[in-house]
Amino acid sequence: MRGISAVNRLCKILNIEIPIVQAPVGSIAGSELASAVSIAGGLGGMGVTWTNSDDLRTKIASIRSKTDYPFYVNYALAFPPVTLDVALELGCPIVTFSWGIPEKLIKRCHLYYAKVGIQVGNSTGALIAKDAGADFIIVQGMEAGGHVQSTTPIEILLHQIFQLELGLPIVVAGGISTGKEIANWISRGADGVMLGTRFVAANESLAHEEYKQLLLTSVDSDTALTHCFDGGWPHAMHRVLRNATLNTWEAKGCAPPGCRPGEGDVIAISATNEPIFRYEDTAPRTGMSGEIEAMCCYAGSGVGKIEAILSASDILHDLWDDACKLRNPSDLV
Ligand SMILES: Cc1cc2nc3c(=O)[nH]c(=O)nc-3n(C[C@H](O)[C@H](O)[C@H](O)COP(=O)(O)O)c2cc1C
Repeated sequence: MRGISAVNRLCKILNIEIPIVQAPVGSIAGSELASAVSIAGGLGGMGVTWTNSDDLRTKIASIRSKTDYPFYVNYALAFPPVTLDVALELGCPIVTFSWGIPEKLIKRCHLYYAKVGIQVGNSTGALIAKDAGADFIIVQGMEAGGHVQSTTPIEILLHQIFQLELGLPIVVAGGISTGKEIANWISRGADGVMLGTRFVAANESLAHEEYKQLLLTSVDSDTALTHCFDGGWPHAMHRVLRNATLNTWEAKGCAPPGCRPGEGDVIAISATNEPIFRYEDTAPRTGMSGEIEAMCCYAGSGVGKIEAILSASDILHDLWDDACKLRNPSDLV
C-alpha cells in the first residue's frame, strides 16, 4: 500500500491498492482501459448499459485474459440493465449503478458476492442507497462530464453527505483532474475519487483521436451543462465541450426537437457505417469519421487541467504520486 491512506476502507472493500476509480465512460471505456487501470492498482471499469450479452462476454474475457485484479461494470438505470445476470454469472466482482437505486438488483449482486456502488447526485439519494444495501457511494457533483444527475456543486454536496455520517466509503466524482484535487478530497474525508474525463484522454481509451486532442486543448470554461445532445437519451442533462452544434442551437434560443438548426444532418459515420446525426448522444470513438468536433464530446469541468495524453498507468501513478506529495494539510488548500 502506498501513500496517503495506509488503511483505507474503500481499498479494503474493493481489494485495490490506490483509491482512484476510472469512471464508467460509456462506450469509451473498453477492456483495454479498464484492465490497464486495474493492473496499475486503481479500479477500472466499463459502462455496459448499451452492450449486448455476446459483446459483454468478450469484454470480460478480454479483461480476465490480462489480469485477475478487480474491475467493475456499470449500468445507467435510465435503461434496463439487461445483461446484469450475464455479468454476475461471469463473476464480475463489482457493479455500479447510476440513475437509480434498485434494492432488488443490489440484493441480486450480493447473491453473487459482487460489491455494489451507487452513484448519487444528492443527499437523499445517498441515504436511500445506504438503506438499499450499497457497499459504497459515489457522489457526483454537477462539474462531472457525461450525463449528470446532480444539480449541486461537489463541494456543497459532499459537505451535505458527510453530515449524514453514513458509515460507508464515499467516492467523489466530478471535475477532478489533478493530484492536488485528489489529496484535497481525501484529506477532507473522502475515501476515494472517480475520474472520467481524465481517462477519456488516455492512450487506451476508445475515444476518437480528435476528441482526445479537443480535451487536451480545452480550458475549464469550455464545458457546458446542457440538454442539447438528447438523441438516444432525452431529458437528461449532460456536460460537454462547447462546439458548433451547441453554440448554433443556443443562438436559436435552444429550440425544441423538430425545430433545431441542422436537425437531421448526418455529421459522422460509425466504424460500421451507421449514420450519426447532429444532436445524438453518441461520443466520438475510434473508427468514426466526419465532423468529430460537432458531435457530443462529453467533458467535465476539470478538462483544462489535462496536459497530456498518457497511458492509463502513467495517469494513475502520476496523480497518486502528486497526491501523496501533498500530505501536509497546509499544502492542500
Ligand atoms: C464520456 C463519458 C461517458 C460517461 N458515461 C457514463 C456511463 O455510462 N454511466 C455512468 O454512470 N456515468 C457515466 N459518465 C459519468 C461518470 O460516471 C462520472 O460521473 C464523471 O465522468 C465524473 O466527472 P469527470 O468526467 O469530470 O471526471 C460518463 C462520463 C463521461 C465523460
